[in-house]
Amino acid sequence: MPVFEVLTPRERYPAIVERGILARAADYLPPKAGRVFVVSTQDVWKHQGEALERALAGTRHEVLFLPGGEDHKRLAPLEALAGQMVERGGDRSSLVIAFGGGIVNDMAGFLAAIFMRGIPVVQIPTTLLAQVDAAIGGKTGVNLAAGKNLIGSFHQPLAVLIDPALLDTLPEREYRAGLFEVLKHGVIRSPELFRVMAERSPEVLARVPDVVDFMIADSVRIKAEVVSADEREGGLRRILNFGHTIGHALEAETAYSRFLHGEAVAFGMQAAVRLAESARHLSPDDSACIRAAIRRYGPIPPLDGIPAESLLRRLGSDKKTVQGKVHFVLPTRIGQVTVVSGIEDALVLNAIRAALA
Ligand code: GLY
Repeated sequence: MPVFEVLTPRERYPAIVERGILARAADYLPPKAGRVFVVSTQDVWKHQGEALERALAGTRHEVLFLPGGEDHKRLAPLEALAGQMVERGGDRSSLVIAFGGGIVNDMAGFLAAIFMRGIPVVQIPTTLLAQVDAAIGGKTGVNLAAGKNLIGSFHQPLAVLIDPALLDTLPEREYRAGLFEVLKHGVIRSPELFRVMAERSPEVLARVPDVVDFMIADSVRIKAEVVSADEREGGLRRILNFGHTIGHALEAETAYSRFLHGEAVAFGMQAAVRLAESARHLSPDDSACIRAAIRRYGPIPPLDGIPAESLLRRLGSDKKTVQGKVHFVLPTRIGQVTVVSGIEDALVLNAIRAALA
């Protein structure tokens, strides 16, 4: 049972990777917690709700639903849920269990951060993307029309319970979208993880348990290390944004409705690798090797009709842009990245065009 500790200046909590841990979810709720609110979506509940109901059989709890989909990741549904929590007896002793994919983890975490000025949350991620990234590290929030996650808060959970067995029923497209975040971890910090992704794709795609468990555990290790070193993204945590700056622009440009987040990150990584090569940070061999590994887990939805110039313009409103300077996370070799700003627009535009082609 790999347990990875996240240690921030104010919090310390475990991210536990264990098949079957869902059945023991009640063990991770503080004995003195008041009303427990499970926040999920109808879709997740249909597939996994019964298992969580069994785990919480001895715990009084209420189940609340968010609408699914990145285009519903907005403030309004949270206001509605907060109202339902008050109606059902929620108070400052209440606790939220976020049970779903990355969008649920972000939104339910933010609900917990702002309900009565903050109540605890336990994260139980049910998709690969959420298990390796979104549920760990305390980033919570919602989108604005102007950009991704522009309203939010850091709110660390009490625990993250990661049950790889939940992925057995995950739809293929969702699984592949999560694989891009795993690949991201390999490129930024783990040559061994990258090698597994690059060389053992049939087993990865067949969801062979040993391979899945390794991919999740190594990603969670990396995420826990990085967040523990830099919770508020003043330095090291920026490396987790590899592929995200341009990926977020793609999501906003397509109104959050065409690409899953992981798919947009795949596109962003393709563009970032091109940029790293043309800015001479990355060798052509490593560039080709990373781009081939990304392609192995595609295809992503068609990119037709998306103008490179529009994506470039959108980079300016990403929250990773500081005082007008766009920062790019660029690989320097497999397992290592650097953060660079001040790259000429022409180079960025060319890299975006190459990734769109
Ligand atoms: N998903 C990037 C981060 O947690 O910092």
